[in-house]
Amino acid sequence: MDAQVQVLVGAQWGDEGKGRVVDVLAETADVVVRYQGGANAGHTVMAGGRKYVFHLLPSGMLYPNRLCIIGNGLVVDPEKLREEVNGLDPSPEKSGTRLVVSGAAHIVMPYHKKLDALGESARSKSGFGSAIGTTGRGIGPCYVDKYNRTGIRAEDLAQPDVVAKKLRLNLDEKNLILEKIYGEPPFEFDGLYETVLEWGRFIAPYIGNATFELDRAISSGKRILFEGAQGTLLDVDHGTYPYVTSSSCVSGGCCTGGSVPPGRIDRIIGVAKAYCTRVGEGPFPTELTNEAGELLRKNGAEYGATTGRPRRCGWLDMVALNYAVKVNGLDFIALTKLDVLSGLDELLVCIAYDVDGGRRETFPDSAAVLERVTPVYRKFTPWNEDISGCRSSSDLPEAAREYVSFIEESTSSKVCLIGVGPRREDTIRIF
Ligand code: GDP
Ligand code: IMO
Ligand code: MG
Repeated sequence: MDAQVQVLVGAQWGDEGKGRVVDVLAETADVVVRYQGGANAGHTVMAGGRKYVFHLLPSGMLYPNRLCIIGNGLVVDPEKLREEVNGLDPSPEKSGTRLVVSGAAHIVMPYHKKLDALGESARSKSGFGSAIGTTGRGIGPCYVDKYNRTGIRAEDLAQPDVVAKKLRLNLDEKNLILEKIYGEPPFEFDGLYETVLEWGRFIAPYIGNATFELDRAISSGKRILFEGAQGTLLDVDHGTYPYVTSSSCVSGGCCTGGSVPPGRIDRIIGVAKAYCTRVGEGPFPTELTNEAGELLRKNGAEYGATTGRPRRCGWLDMVALNYAVKVNGLDFIALTKLDVLSGLDELLVCIAYDVDGGRRETFPDSAAVLERVTPVYRKFTPWNEDISGCRSSSDLPEAAREYVSFIEESTSSKVCLIGVGPRREDTIRIF
């Protein structure tokens, strides 16, 4: 694929297979950048007979001699980062791949995780409706502090005086909330300060300026791949609010969270599953709560890569996918898990919603409206063949080719890659 700067985003509710597509595209990339989210992400790569799940590290870390960047838009849990760096085989020292963590990335503190759990429990008991079903990784509370301008950033960890002041400020507030609102014990300054200084010693060698690193890389003709986490419908602005995450998952997020000027982006690729899944709460019009849904979960091994939770499964939703095409300005679609649809008795795709006495093909702004829609389905001819050995579109059964063509026609986008199994090699590369 011939484009210097590419952005890859999730086009549904996350877990579309972004990690495995990044892994394929990173073969020809020099720099791979995460630009938002944190360890709520779980990006699976199956290569060389091994399974890797990346939560914070860009999924390009497996290749040698790359530059991998954790951008300013992330919220970083240093313990998780250390686990991932230590678990790499070969290690970055041996592979020659360099990791840079933006000094402006925010740090997830233990009180963020505690407040995440307490907030969920409070929401589920209140008139809010239900919990969000967060991953419990402290993501929301950490972004709250970022936007409240009280957060601790990666650059602070290696500056004992700065981090001491910020920690005191935060504990004064967090401990009040913990004790007075939730009746929970406070966090002690001394222990936490020691932990934070120790994190600083670990993270200091990785801290860098992502803006300058990227500018240099782009100016010298290097190929850059931005790796979105979560998905369009979980984006804090464009998703099914309030059942979303707290970051900008859409393609535009890579400009603020990944330090790339908008005019430098050459290509935007959306990753979509051949059906839909969602983890956590929130509207999901095509959800199948019957045996067909269980079959998709079983055939697609649909269990969360971060939390292990069973994913909710349903038919492909073109209303939602077309919305993702528009919000992100998708040039191409990478279609994953087409193999999971083999052998079904029935194959449906949602092409419109019936709601409030009318039919619409546009995605509603409001989650409350989305809760009320009834999907309008079009039937497709199922296929029985095992397609996991297919390596070109012409190897696919005619019914599967028709399914892919329909997606291309109704999104006015080309499918550039098809996943026919979880391994690196189980890929139909079209461009
Ligand atoms: P991500 O968060 O978007 O990177 O996706 P996850 O890794 O959370 O979930 C995708 C799951 O589907 C992982 O278990 C992948 O190994 C698996 N997967 C990805 N692409 C394919 C595919 O084309 N076929 C099959 N059968 N599994 C796939
Ligand atoms: P990847 O990058 C799927 C969901 C959670 C919850 C909501 C908010 O692997 O696709 P949070 O912990 O972010 O505050 O949770 O968002 N969620 C994901 N769902 N894939 C993800 O990441 C997700 N990250 C968060 O389940 O509904
Ligand atoms: Mg995932």
